[in-house]
Amino acid sequence: MPRKDLTEKPVILVTRRVPPPVEARIRDAYRATLNDDDRVWNAGELIDRARGCTGLLICPTERLTTDVIERLPAEVKICATFSVGYDHIDIATAKRRGLIVTNTPDVLTDATADIAILLILGAARRATEAEALLRRGDWGAWSTMFMLGTHVSGKRLGIYGMGRIGRAVARRARGFGMTIHYCNRQRLSAELETGAIFHATPEALLPHCDFLSLHCPASAETHHFLDARRIALLPDGAVVVNTARGTVVDDGALIAALKSGKLAAAGLDVFEGEPRFNRTYLELSNTMLLPHIGSATHETRAAMGNRAVDNLDAYFAGRAPADRVI
Ligand code: DGY
Repeated sequence: MPRKDLTEKPVILVTRRVPPPVEARIRDAYRATLNDDDRVWNAGELIDRARGCTGLLICPTERLTTDVIERLPAEVKICATFSVGYDHIDIATAKRRGLIVTNTPDVLTDATADIAILLILGAARRATEAEALLRRGDWGAWSTMFMLGTHVSGKRLGIYGMGRIGRAVARRARGFGMTIHYCNRQRLSAELETGAIFHATPEALLPHCDFLSLHCPASAETHHFLDARRIALLPDGAVVVNTARGTVVDDGALIAALKSGKLAAAGLDVFEGEPRFNRTYLELSNTMLLPHIGSATHETRAAMGNRAVDNLDAYFAGRAPADRVI
């Protein structure tokens, strides 16, 4: 964007700190209210600070509920979220109010797929438990039955939600010699499927999953998708990995299955109610737990920020933002 006088710069609110190159770009092109101490604002603070702003750049920490959207100042026209997921925004209300919403697809696909693979391998090979043992000083002599995990190569990986991230996980898992099964709203073209075996329903998919990796969006439809009934359909000793959203899993059912041995292990990067989460997971040695770091690389977070700003730039230049959700 060409450099503008302060008076002609669009006014935006940026609710959290963003990577320095993204912040520099924002300072250059916008009259922006920034959040230097990076504290998560409550709804009232967000609404107050949005006065006089045409654009918002928010993160998944800001919950744009029906109430918040209805109380946003009328001058707010566009909300760019620094995330691919937009379950923190009440889309129906935003649509009704005429609020444009954009997200940041594509740029976090590889980073998130990498974390899914890390969890698949780490949960299968008991990485958390083994490292904790070593750090405790409990590492004894090598023995044939020490810390045995589950083999990954040659196993079946079931992917629920074969979008960009699901397909990137499949590509990586093939490199580990896994066979890919998947369930998706629609069957993919042969080109995108690349040999993965399609199942029309989760119930058809689950019995084929030595490993199950969740990649569906959070929605009313996927709320507690993985419940006791569906866990029962998995083979005994299966491994479950979730890098999608915590609400997709019924924690009580997953914990019961991890305790009973129905499931060998779970690798979780997302939790219902995070950053709070069901603390029982901490008591289980067969869990590998990460604090929602799927997209947390320097490169990816810069790309996400730039993508969000690209969408704002397009809107303020009178063009259609590329990643318009509504
Ligand atoms: C997203 O973009 O939705 C991620 O979950 C944030 O890392």
